[in-house]
Amino acid sequence: MYRSRLGTDLSNITLDYVSSINDDSEIALYDIIGSQAHTIMLFQNKIITKNDAKKILSSLENMKNEKFDTSSGAEDIHELIESLVIKKAGMASGGKMHTARSRNDQVVLDIRMKIRDDINIMCNCLLDTIESLVSVSQNHQKTIMPFYTHLQQAQAGLFSHYLLAQADILSRDFQRLFETFKRINQSPLGAGPIGGTSITIDRHSTAKMLGFDGVVENSIDATSTRDFVAEYVAMVSILMTNLSRISEDFIIWSTSEFSFIELSDEFTSPSSVMPQKKNPDILELTRGKTAEIIGNLTAILSTIKGLASGYGRDLQQIKSSIWSTSKISISALLIIKSIVLTMKVNTKQMKKVTESSNLIALDIAEKLVQEGIPFRVTHKISGVLVQLAHNSKKPISKLTVLEIKKSVEGTSVDPKIVSEIISTTSVVSSLKDRKSFGSSGYDEQKRMISDRTQKISIWRSNMSERDNKIKSSIDELQKLVDEII
Ligand code: ARG
Repeated sequence: MYRSRLGTDLSNITLDYVSSINDDSEIALYDIIGSQAHTIMLFQNKIITKNDAKKILSSLENMKNEKFDTSSGAEDIHELIESLVIKKAGMASGGKMHTARSRNDQVVLDIRMKIRDDINIMCNCLLDTIESLVSVSQNHQKTIMPFYTHLQQAQAGLFSHYLLAQADILSRDFQRLFETFKRINQSPLGAGPIGGTSITIDRHSTAKMLGFDGVVENSIDATSTRDFVAEYVAMVSILMTNLSRISEDFIIWSTSEFSFIELSDEFTSPSSVMPQKKNPDILELTRGKTAEIIGNLTAILSTIKGLASGYGRDLQQIKSSIWSTSKISISALLIIKSIVLTMKVNTKQMKKVTESSNLIALDIAEKLVQEGIPFRVTHKISGVLVQLAHNSKKPISKLTVLEIKKSVEGTSVDPKIVSEIISTTSVVSSLKDRKSFGSSGYDEQKRMISDRTQKISIWRSNMSERDNKIKSSIDELQKLVDEII
């Protein structure tokens, strides 16, 4: 339809090469709604007549329920929709729809509308996942487990503390995406091909009709820029790396060697040969798909980096990277949430492993510090205790008076104090004594759970305010369409 100055049509191979029609199914509805807002604005500003608007709007309205014939020869959804409008409304009216806009502002409008919806879905899914972590942590405020650094046992802790850490990590993903939305939700419509138009359009009115918070003012910026896409996919890449790390923890903890958790059957796969196997394929795929999203980010940045200002067709290629990023991450969030809610936690095993190791070593050293002994000295005493216990294959609590005496050699510390501290220190006492802000202490769990619960409810109301604002703008636009047709 656009090839007015070009002599020949595209061959089938070239058309297939150049066409984005298959990727465009994701933005077809946004293109229709955007075109409706544009048409109403043209009518309200006396650029087209009511009769023209009526014909265009009703063809667009009918298209909402139609399945597009993607083999029509159109290069993209914008060309296809416009050609169908012209076919239905006639050239005299339909031919006016594309007045004062270009596919360059049109495509970026559609992408912004799609990403803002995806962000809102993702933010709501994030809140569901965060809420599930906090709610499961409520049941595990007394579930003792070992914490690891370098994947070596480090300190005794509580499972609730681990779950709350993941909730906090995902809360930052929520906040990042919530902020990114503000930069996405700006309308580029009416920027034209690059430099604007001589026709007296009202860009603010289309922005308002479509639920945008403002316009991308500079028409060069509005049509050329895809930094908002890179920002969105970067935020999702970070989110996915966080889900990937949770997946890795769960994969390790579900091995028979650890046996800390058992994944529900629906999130595991059997082996084709070994009947006993229960493989954590779903979590492994979260790790694998994270790589795919990082790849999407790389593809997007590589596309943008060498591009001269103004629209270049290279930009068409980044759309599929956006769609796959949204699809994967929304599914990953739904899946992780269900895994958390359905997994069995083997509290006995977690406790057994914690108590069978010398994880109270740091607690003993800290108790000696409270007797006025420098930490570097108490660290050494406790280290010797661990060494002696390890060599004689028994817990620190079973060390003899002689062995304890050995631990204080070369210091002025009274071994009786050390004995007394050993006999009163256990994993449970250690967690009672853990008082620092944000620690594994019992009291801290309670405080953090109530604080996070409050935060979730504030974020939920922010989200419903945001969702409602867009929904009511689109409802208002629909009313205007209905009035005219
Ligand atoms: N199909 C194109 C895309 O997805 C739409 C914009 C085409 N604009 C142009 N001037 N060729 O990016």
